[in-house]
Amino acid sequence: MTSSIIEVKLPQSSYQVVIASNILSQLGSYLERLDLGQKIILISNPEIFNHYGKIVVDSLTRSGFKVFDHLIPSGESYKNLDTITRIYDSALENRLERSSTMIALGGGVIGDITGFAAATWLRGINFVQVPTSLLGMVDASIGGKTGVNHPQGKNLIGAFYQPRLVFIDPFVLKTLPVREFRAGMAEVVKYGIIWNRDLFEQLEQATTLNNLDDLSCELLQYIIVSSCRAKVDVVVRDEKEVDLRAILNYGHTIGHAIESLTGYGTINHGEAVGIGMVAAGKIAVKLQLWTEEEVKRQNDLIAKVGLLTTFPKILKINEVINVLQTDKKIKAGKVRFILPTEIGKVIISDHVSFEVIKNCLFI
Ligand code: GLY
Repeated sequence: MTSSIIEVKLPQSSYQVVIASNILSQLGSYLERLDLGQKIILISNPEIFNHYGKIVVDSLTRSGFKVFDHLIPSGESYKNLDTITRIYDSALENRLERSSTMIALGGGVIGDITGFAAATWLRGINFVQVPTSLLGMVDASIGGKTGVNHPQGKNLIGAFYQPRLVFIDPFVLKTLPVREFRAGMAEVVKYGIIWNRDLFEQLEQATTLNNLDDLSCELLQYIIVSSCRAKVDVVVRDEKEVDLRAILNYGHTIGHAIESLTGYGTINHGEAVGIGMVAAGKIAVKLQLWTEEEVKRQNDLIAKVGLLTTFPKILKINEVINVLQTDKKIKAGKVRFILPTEIGKVIISDHVSFEVIKNCLFI
């Protein structure tokens, strides 16, 4: 079994990202090392809990923990304050203490909700991430962004709150729908463009990346470890997104606008980020920051992982521009773009005119 441990060293809280196939049944013994209280609430959704709940509960129980489960229906529409209130009710009912722990077993939505509940219950209890989607593994579970949506916008309510452990078992991806796998691959391609040229080139060399079944265990482990390393490298340099961490939003400026206009679901997050990266690449070329040859390589890779590289025809340009103007990442009235200068390197720019954006949207 190949296993990797990445240390996340932050001023207030340091933790490990553990990545190893078939490790889920050992979660309890990893938690024993963390000096946690006895009580754990395991937060998941019914599908994931059905697949992996028993393995996790048995492992935790064997290690002496007292485990309560709390299930949330699947989907972004449950990522709200009502769901948080229900978690607080469970926490109260089961008399959780400051030393108790909330574990997120699920994808990015479960991780974000659980992290926010953990950050705020009793002013902060222990939190552990056990991501079960590729997107959760390579992005959402690391770095402490937690939160829920407000009816007016995504992730408007939240806190930076770091987990005590991120525990990744790539074996659980076997039950991930292919569309979700490809959505996660969008973030993997993103790390290749913003941070790690070797990762990008390894992905280019792979025969096919269309389905999880096409990947060898070694390639999957390499992809997850390299992506997690890239995320950790960025987060430890800028935990609270003062500057550098914004590069993780490559492809997300236009991606968020697409998700918001299509009602969070028609086009999922990774698919929207894929389209956003194509648009951002085109803007970078238009501004003479990046070469045609490299943007083509990027777009070919996005297509290779089975994602769209054209702008959805159902969207209207003015609607996209309106959404961009209300993006919460907007700074002093300027839309912020992350733009590649070469594969593996990006800059942050607040100087892209709406004229240029318009010209680069319909590809
Ligand atoms: N997903 C972007 C970040 O964690 O900053």
